[in-house]
Amino acid sequence: MTIRAVVRGVGHYLPDRVVSNAEFEASLDTSDDWIRSRSGIERRHLAGPGQTTADLATRAAKAALEDAGMQADEIDAIILATSTADLTFPSAATMVQANLGMTRGFAFDVQAVCAGFVFALTTANALIIAGQATRVLVIGAEIFSRLMDWTDRGTCVLFGDGAGALILERTEAAGTPADRGILSTDLNSDGRHKDILYVDGGTSTGTTGKLRMEGKEVFRHAVEKLAETAHAALEKAGLGSADVDWIVPHQANIRIIEGTAKRMQVSMDRVVVTVQDHGNTSAASIPLALSVGKARGQIKPGDLIVTEAIGGGLAWGAVVLRW
Ligand code: UT7
Repeated sequence: MTIRAVVRGVGHYLPDRVVSNAEFEASLDTSDDWIRSRSGIERRHLAGPGQTTADLATRAAKAALEDAGMQADEIDAIILATSTADLTFPSAATMVQANLGMTRGFAFDVQAVCAGFVFALTTANALIIAGQATRVLVIGAEIFSRLMDWTDRGTCVLFGDGAGALILERTEAAGTPADRGILSTDLNSDGRHKDILYVDGGTSTGTTGKLRMEGKEVFRHAVEKLAETAHAALEKAGLGSADVDWIVPHQANIRIIEGTAKRMQVSMDRVVVTVQDHGNTSAASIPLALSVGKARGQIKPGDLIVTEAIGGGLAWGAVVLRW
């Protein structure tokens, strides 16, 4: 008998305000054509002044609970992947816990930047396998617009705000690749690359700081490392590229998504792509894409999904799961 963490529900939330590429042309030396052709992004959602990361996360969590037909008090743990928590502490996850009216169980944030959701899923899976929790709400939520230097055209046009959530539940299974649920995970980081993607604030400066990125360098690592980690995760599950129904990648750049799919020998009609509508929402991008992919009718029960992501750290990884 093998324990599997199976997806019971999924949901997302995007703030109302949609900003097109053309809006940046008024304040920056940029163009819709450059942003589309270099990144694939056409628009992004930005949070309103009063909205917080915990607000976005709560909306996504409620949508996932509704999809699962569950109440908040049936959840044992909340893991929230974010790099834009509202306060240094307490965690945004505990704020979501309070917003949901959940007074038992435990909640905490995971911070692995754009790879955060893959790290959070892996942590949730480990808690379920270890018998620490039966049902875990895993959320990715970000307000990266609060970290933007709006004068830096190399970064501010790329990011957006949003949240997505999944509910995982413990089940007993045969222990084969045909089982539903998380089949394998692969996590990596290499702190030597901290200077190519970081926020120049924190307790060392007493400010929140702004995002700084050497885009070309990050791009180079991304295409190489994403295919590697996806292959490693598939291998651990005893599977290969031919078994994949959907790649649900971190949505940073369509050229990275295409390059990774090509290296994995998976055609683009088996990749869920939302980057054109959301931009890069960091840890929120994979659960957003899972939720949108399901709503579009792309992802169906029994499908074999590979998620992969890379971000600041560098930190990167992949999760293989059967929906
Ligand atoms: O999610 C976390 C991980 N992050 C990523 O995965 C992002 C990875 N990197 C990328 O997606 C791409 O590197 C970018 C989209 C950021 C940039 O694309 P690129 O093809 O690597 O362009 P580049 O940085 O080499 O810049 C090419 C040119 C430069 O001008 P010069 O030096 O050739 O004259 C930039 O100054 O494009 C210029 N440029 C812009 N031009 C118009 C940079 N940003 C803009 C802009 N509009 N917004």
